[in-house]
Amino acid sequence: MSRIERLLSRMTLAEKLGQLTMTAAHHATTGPVIAGDSTEAIRSGAIGSLLNLVGADAIHELQRVAVEESRLGIPLLLGFDVLHGHRIQFPIPLGETAVFDPGVWERTAREAAREATADGLALTFAPMLDVSRDPRWGRSAEGPGEDPFVAARLAQAKVRGFQGARLAAADAIAACAKHYCAYGPVTAGRDYASVDISERTLHEVHLPPFEAAVRAGVATIMPAFTDLAGMPMTAHRPLLRGHLRERLGFEGVLISDYNAIAELMRHGIAADLAEAAALALEAGVDIDMMSDAFRRGLPEALRRRRARMADIDAAVRRVLRLKESLGLFADPYRRGARPESAAVVRRRRRLAREVAARAMVLLQNEADVLPLAPGISRIAVMGPLADAPAEMRGPWSAAAGNEGHVSVLQGLREAFPGARIEHAAGVPLREVEEAGIEAAAALCDGAEVIILCVGEAAGMSGEAASRTQLGLPGSQPRLARAVFERARARGIPVITVLFSGRPLIVPELVEHSAALIAAWFPGSEAGSAIADLLTGRRSPEGRTPLSWPRQAGQIPVFFGQRPSGRPAHPDDGFTSKYLDSPNEPQFPFGHGLTYGRFEHADLVVSPARVRPASRLRIRLTVRNTGRRTATDTVFLFARDPLASVARPLLELKGFTKVRLRPGERRRIGITLAAAELRFHGASLEPVWEPGEVEILAGPCADRRRLLSTKVQLLPSASRK
Ligand code: BGC
Repeated sequence: MSRIERLLSRMTLAEKLGQLTMTAAHHATTGPVIAGDSTEAIRSGAIGSLLNLVGADAIHELQRVAVEESRLGIPLLLGFDVLHGHRIQFPIPLGETAVFDPGVWERTAREAAREATADGLALTFAPMLDVSRDPRWGRSAEGPGEDPFVAARLAQAKVRGFQGARLAAADAIAACAKHYCAYGPVTAGRDYASVDISERTLHEVHLPPFEAAVRAGVATIMPAFTDLAGMPMTAHRPLLRGHLRERLGFEGVLISDYNAIAELMRHGIAADLAEAAALALEAGVDIDMMSDAFRRGLPEALRRRRARMADIDAAVRRVLRLKESLGLFADPYRRGARPESAAVVRRRRRLAREVAARAMVLLQNEADVLPLAPGISRIAVMGPLADAPAEMRGPWSAAAGNEGHVSVLQGLREAFPGARIEHAAGVPLREVEEAGIEAAAALCDGAEVIILCVGEAAGMSGEAASRTQLGLPGSQPRLARAVFERARARGIPVITVLFSGRPLIVPELVEHSAALIAAWFPGSEAGSAIADLLTGRRSPEGRTPLSWPRQAGQIPVFFGQRPSGRPAHPDDGFTSKYLDSPNEPQFPFGHGLTYGRFEHADLVVSPARVRPASRLRIRLTVRNTGRRTATDTVFLFARDPLASVARPLLELKGFTKVRLRPGERRRIGITLAAAELRFHGASLEPVWEPGEVEILAGPCADRRRLLSTKVQLLPSASRK
């Protein structure tokens, strides 16, 4: 008999339910505390996993209680939200997505896994894979932006990075793909609100990233808090048991979100805890995070014959199998056995600096005001985010304390040691308080350049951080206006660095800033990374992973819309458009400038006629006509103009990057499996429809800037 079957045969019901229960160790960050001090519960076998405990010593001590003092000696599973770094923070996930480099996505996850496991952890609640087309939703910050193809690539890279080659390795951490699924389109962008989308959108947009995570071998998945057309995901049998387990063959562990099983009562589909627990278990949930519904509800559900012992056993088996594959039975102390060396920490900081710089999106750069001239001697650094190191971490900053993060001011002082750098916050981050504006604006006098650091507070995005107005909070707009006026009067350029967990709607910054950088929340090395861009040590290369709205009223604005029967026409009123705004976003998906200038030409696809098993080779020439070495990002789209189901105006099918010196030209290639040109047909199964498909490539999702050619899809098998 295997270890797992042996254990299972000896377990009491309470011990089984303990294995299915995850509680917060001593404190909780995202919901009500139910566990208090967990030591006794661990000793009695009433808790099998914990969240929100960090530190190898503390973890090993509780692990010792579980292994040495509980009756069956089953090790604990320790999980934590390591989303974008553990102690050292990388940019927030939305920002990191802007790098458009799966290698980078994987490397940061690998580093985060090393650091988190050195702290004793074995499970992270990441990656977050919720496609978001609604920046009102604060959790857009945690995810991959608007596009399912990007989200799927990110999913694979993150799972590989977190889990490494072998889950049992001391530096591997189990990943958790969350939040399954379609959490992003919450009604009106309000967190936790109901979701009601079409089956088609579910299959085309929201499922692919999770399917990719399953293919990559993700160890665990977390159902979303939300309901989908009336069925809460925590109890969604067709999508959990049906799609994940039966169709995709997912054999890992399903972990409920925080208190989500008990919340089935508030959703109005369970009368009491026993019913809630029965529904979640039946749907396929294995671990109850923080609602205590399994422990308190399942015994009663068994009595009522609403739950089956076989389902409990199957869930326990999956949990024990996960613990086994993490190597916890073999050596429960292998994670956190050795502190990391200073060299490893230095290397991680270097990576954080590199990725932060590569994630920033240069939205505009009039007259090449950036990079700054090396001899610059007087700089005014302003705004409430100029010297706010702790804010640079952004939401979900895991175990990163307040200290050890580089502010913009510090980064600039190090980068321009000879310059006179003056600083004033001017206004607080969120509050209305204008007393400091005049004095701050006065710093413009005599400055050669002004660096204006404005944006959201870190806590204004992330969970439970939806906003209806996406402008600068508090008195920041007043500060910006005062600075722009003063600077204009004196002919001084203003470089605005915008910090946010979402695209902010800031037309005044777009209009008056000589250069505008979307810095997201860059993480621990924020200031150094910004200095790297401003000095030209690095050329910016980030591209916005979502369409940047011009007006909140355009939301959702995204490039993958379907055609209208009445496409917008300037001379025809009865076409699809607004009376008071262009349809187009402020900046399209993929927009982002560099210090080079790139031209694309000669797009060729071969072969020109393909069957589903063919591979397409797409080639184009990229030329840097600018004066500096820079990295270009090229996006590949498809457009199927005639199909049995209307296809989106553009569908992303690939992206690649190329670094070129001034004047350099290179022929680059992207490979595409022709099968990727299938789509979900009328019955939502993938279909291959012969006909002509347009292949487009270029800098962003603005059709007018794309090169285009055609490929002919032939019938699946050759006709005799
Ligand atoms: C969030 C999850 C997170 C969990 C544990 C919940 O409130 O929705 O994303 O993993 O808390 O902290």
